[in-house]
Amino acid sequence: EQINKGKYEHYMQKEIHEQPESLTTTMRGRLIRGGSCKAKNVLLGGLKDHLKTIRRSRRIVFIGCGTSYNAALAARPILEELSGIPVTMEVASDLVDRQGPIYREDTAVFVSQSGETADTLQALHYALENGALCVGITNTVGSEIARNTHCGIHINAGCEIGVASTKAYTSQIVVMAMMALAVGGDAISSQERREAIIDGLFDLPNKVREVLKLDNEMKDLAQLLIAEQSLLVFGRGYNYATALEGALKVKEVALMHSEGILAGEMKHGPLALVDENLPIVVIATHDACFSKQQSVIQQLHARKGRLIVMCSEGDAAAACPGSSCRVIEVPRVEDCLQPVVNVVPLQLLAYHLTVLRGHNVDQPRNLAKSVTTQ
Ligand code: G6P
Repeated sequence: EQINKGKYEHYMQKEIHEQPESLTTTMRGRLIRGGSCKAKNVLLGGLKDHLKTIRRSRRIVFIGCGTSYNAALAARPILEELSGIPVTMEVASDLVDRQGPIYREDTAVFVSQSGETADTLQALHYALENGALCVGITNTVGSEIARNTHCGIHINAGCEIGVASTKAYTSQIVVMAMMALAVGGDAISSQERREAIIDGLFDLPNKVREVLKLDNEMKDLAQLLIAEQSLLVFGRGYNYATALEGALKVKEVALMHSEGILAGEMKHGPLALVDENLPIVVIATHDACFSKQQSVIQQLHARKGRLIVMCSEGDAAAACPGSSCRVIEVPRVEDCLQPVVNVVPLQLLAYHLTVLRGHNVDQPRNLAKSVTTQ
């Protein structure tokens, strides 16, 4: 596949900006909008023969590394909500190190952009030996993980070249949200919620197109942060994963220390770091955790924290009343899809920070796109 950068300077930049299109491709042919007699629904050909087994499983275990792990973490709440099945998370290397329990009654879901990551592959062989149903979610048709799992879903995000994963991340979340809809079935009690999610999926490429307009704003913010040593990112609920992923992007390409923090853990350590110098991004878009995030912002503000607050459009005053924080307003979407929108400004921030700091965007030092050795 001959891929060039087109009008962009770097692959990472191109891949960030093509997310409206990659998301559209990911969903193509898989969502039914409904009509006079058809209900809104999801069709995942690669899973359909195994849905009954998945629904009967005692537990669903997500397994992955790096960005793929974060994508699974972002999708975990909606899979739990719609399926009612406990969903646990495993970093692939850690599962293998511990030889953690995996049972025949488990569905083990392997998430990997490349489908070739050595740790994820080793965890897959381990889960196969233990008799679990193994599902692969990859971006690479014919990859080891795609070939060795019982069934799966291709994310169809298109070839990703930048070492830092961007468009694969958002497509992975969308695929797992569709998987949640498929596994959840069509109980009357969840029908309204399911339809709202499906409508939200249809509209998601447009919302991502909108949020990409923050490019210049993120460049200005990067300019402001260019000489910092460290950046904290606070998130919770659906956006705990966004905090981890935003921090990972800044760390891996901009070579700046950055940490994603579960806001609910703030008082158990991170608060000690807060002063007037350390920049802190707080993700506080509108969902069931919003009032808790408002309180986190107030507490950080009381300690003179240097805050950058990401909130839903129109929520700036509610998110940081009377404070001097910098605000990033993003379009609002269905809560479980909000991580797809929220990660984009953080991807842009990491990209611009990297360029301004003069580092290699597409091939950060010491890192590889696909880690095929242990
Ligand atoms: C490497 C890449 C990351 C990626 C991780 C997992 O560390 O640099 O961008 O998230 O591997 O890769 P996978 O192909 O399994 O998603």
